[in-house]
Amino acid sequence: MKCAAEGGNMSKGQFSHLLRGVCMLWMWQAVFVNGTESKLWEVPTASFTSSANLSESLWEQDCQHSHLQEGARITADTPPRLDGTWVSTRCEVRPGPEFLTRSYTFHASRHFQALQHYYKDSGCEDPAYSLMIRGKLRLRQASWITRGATEAEHHLSKVSVVVHSLAAKQRLASMLPSTCVGLTLGRVVPGKPLELYNTRAGRGCLEALGFSMMEMGLIRVETRHHGHGGKVQELLLGDVHTDWTQRTQYRPTGYQQPLQNAMHHTHPCPVCALVYRSSEQRPPVLPRRTAAPLSLTGSWVSGRCETRPNVLFLTRDFTFDPDQHAWQGVYRHYSDPVCSQPTFTLRASGHYAQGNPSAKVSGATEFVFKVTRVGVTALDGPTAALLNGTRPGKCGRAGGWKVGVEQDLTPTDGCTPLGVKLPHKEYELFKTELDHRKHPLLFVGERPTDGYSPDRPERRPTSFQAPMWLCRDGDTQPSRRYGSVFKSKQVQTAASGTERLAQLALLVLGSVLCSWFWVY
Ligand SMILES: *[C@@H]1O[C@H](CO)[C@@H](O)[C@H](O)[C@H]1NC(C)=O
Ligand SMILES: *[C@@H]1O[C@H](CO)[C@@H](O)[C@H](O)[C@H]1NC(C)=O
Repeated sequence: MKCAAEGGNMSKGQFSHLLRGVCMLWMWQAVFVNGTESKLWEVPTASFTSSANLSESLWEQDCQHSHLQEGARITADTPPRLDGTWVSTRCEVRPGPEFLTRSYTFHASRHFQALQHYYKDSGCEDPAYSLMIRGKLRLRQASWITRGATEAEHHLSKVSVVVHSLAAKQRLASMLPSTCVGLTLGRVVPGKPLELYNTRAGRGCLEALGFSMMEMGLIRVETRHHGHGGKVQELLLGDVHTDWTQRTQYRPTGYQQPLQNAMHHTHPCPVCALVYRSSEQRPPVLPRRTAAPLSLTGSWVSGRCETRPNVLFLTRDFTFDPDQHAWQGVYRHYSDPVCSQPTFTLRASGHYAQGNPSAKVSGATEFVFKVTRVGVTALDGPTAALLNGTRPGKCGRAGGWKVGVEQDLTPTDGCTPLGVKLPHKEYELFKTELDHRKHPLLFVGERPTDGYSPDRPERRPTSFQAPMWLCRDGDTQPSRRYGSVFKSKQVQTAASGTERLAQLALLVLGSVLCSWFWVY
């Protein structure tokens, strides 16, 4: 689904007019298609009462702001400047799950070398094999789907593999066709590079591995300038589809966790240094992490403005009260990639139950969340007007939407036009980790890329969204302060509804988005 950018001989005015029409049409279709595909949320089983207390949001915002800004100004060049080497800052988890670290080098000549190290374990301590990917990248145009991103095209020239153990060789041999580029896997020797793909042969080998560099299709570089002249640069590349069968064709509209520039990264970053010094023959072996017991108590906030597939810019904050098994999530949505122009806020709440340690992702834990209440606050005129126009009884109080005033969607069991049905159950995967400053981080499962909700155990995530930071005790005592106030939570549950809402908001933003188009 791409807005064709064929200007031809048309005048600029005609062209942009046409483009805008095409874009608007596409967006209507996007909403229509997504709306009809949407699975309704689970059937109500019980009624819960809860009282949202809006004064909470002020405090939450403060905590969030301190994390989002950290005294830094964020800039993003379009087109992005990619020259240099960009490295993983931690062991990355991709849907599957796959555990990897990455080191990508871009040259001024547009050639790139991407080094990917795959591991057997979720801590990236036991390397299985490494891929050395060479190719060429061409930046195309600003993405009109994902504001702030640049679309690019890549061509692979060569992909080599180095296996690091006999066990890894056996595993690869079971995945790959018996011959790859004329080489028999039986002849693979640990530590010795073998060509899997070149421009003449080997496509089948890459497909069998589930390999693709579609992530290169969407690019953004963010620079965080700190007061003292220091800076941190991050490279955001396109997201990987959560469905294994889709990942080699999927054109990303969201991002993976960023890589950091080897010269301008957060300090200290022991993982950055290890990954930077690695080669396909010497994969980085990450240090064993001290196991942090999973404790959700308190409030957690996004560390950055997050981008979801389907053009969503948002920040999240979650508060957990383990004594009550209660949870609340606040999703603040924005129309811009640095989260400065709010469009609406979705507040969801309910209960949760902690399950077993994950068999697929060691160190992570399974959860089940039930969302029983969702409230939405429109924060700009167009969003309020859109919600205001829904049919009575289908989405809050019809005609009752006002900018800045929260509407409880519980009385209408959600919001039919938005695909939000209450209550709703989701199967989740959480893990906690300590960052380089020993501050706790919370990782919540990645949303299915297709927009469905993980409402069955088989759809439980195997990878994670961007980490969330724990609000410090000094800020307040979240569990005490909130525990008695709300009895709810939800998790991402709300997110499919959220996405639908965002698609509505998109319609409003359509002309703005489309006018962002430029050709590089
Ligand atoms: C909301 O919270 C404030 C401060 O915690 C409290 O004074 C107020 O009574 C609460 N309102 C409701 C409706 O619970
Ligand atoms: C919502 O609808 C009501 C009734 O039609 C109308 O009076 C009000 O102005 C509308 N509000 C917005 C924000 O569109």
